[in-house]
Amino acid sequence: MSGFKGRTALVTGAANPGGMGRSHVLLLAERGANVIAADIDRAGAEATVAAATKLGVKAYALVADIRDLQAFKRALGEAAAAVGPVDILVNNAGVGGERLAFDAIDEAAFDRMFEVNVRGGFFLSQAVAVSMKQRGWGRIINISSQFGIAGASNASHYAGAKAALIGFTKTWARELAPYNITVNAVAPGYIDTPMTARTVADPARLMARLTTVPAARKGEPIDISYAVAWLASDEASFVTGQVISPNGGETI
Ligand SMILES: NC(=O)c1ccc[n+]([C@@H]2O[C@H](COP(=O)([O-])OP(=O)(O)OC[C@H]3O[C@@H](n4cnc5c(N)ncnc54)[C@H](O)[C@@H]3O)[C@@H](O)[C@H]2O)c1
Repeated sequence: MSGFKGRTALVTGAANPGGMGRSHVLLLAERGANVIAADIDRAGAEATVAAATKLGVKAYALVADIRDLQAFKRALGEAAAAVGPVDILVNNAGVGGERLAFDAIDEAAFDRMFEVNVRGGFFLSQAVAVSMKQRGWGRIINISSQFGIAGASNASHYAGAKAALIGFTKTWARELAPYNITVNAVAPGYIDTPMTARTVADPARLMARLTTVPAARKGEPIDISYAVAWLASDEASFVTGQVISPNGGETI
């Protein structure tokens, strides 16, 4: 796979030491991209940037809440001035893990799920696409979930939010293809991160979950980063509007 030298990648939700966003940042940086690690968590974002800098690329910590789009866009302007305009956007910031039956989801729980997982990525992509269009090259990768494809018991607010990202992906792909911008979604299966830590920590829940995965293992963040890096690469220039679900065969 060719490298990302000369490209700048923005990954949202990139602070968590064991999370997928940091893994995406570090793989893209290892392959030569300058990186912007965005998160609400300053210390975590700065630690991601410190690790990326050691790989010899320019790296910038964008600290903002994706629900506050004006503040986020201001910070994005400063980040782009420091490391370059965004060529690759990975909409990874998300909230999840909350299990509520359909009739127990109140307006606050619904809004929390949609504000971060859906609204934030929508308007950030809109902002970033302006300069991608001007430069005639771009990659937008939306991090959905296999729950957005197959549904999930007691998580319809999360599954619905992740399904919305698939709708955006297919529609933006059509609208942005004439500008040489591809838009794809990665829909992870069960990945071992802080978001799923409670399941992993409970042996009974872990075993129950793994019986549904033909590969008989949980995924690691890097399993998802490889899919992200391929979709961001020149090799994937004819791939757009697609959903890749690395999930060990759990949803086929
Ligand atoms: N772990 C899984 O099994 C799994 C499966 C499918 C999809 N996903 C999705 O993958 C993505 C990454 O998840 P993860 O498991 O690495 O979890 P994570 O909690 O490590 O990552 C989410 C990151 O988003 C950040 N974030 C949350 N709210 C924010 C806000 N308002 N503004 C800015 N940043 C904010 C958090 O601080 C965190 O660093 C999420 O979108 C998640 O829904 C996870």
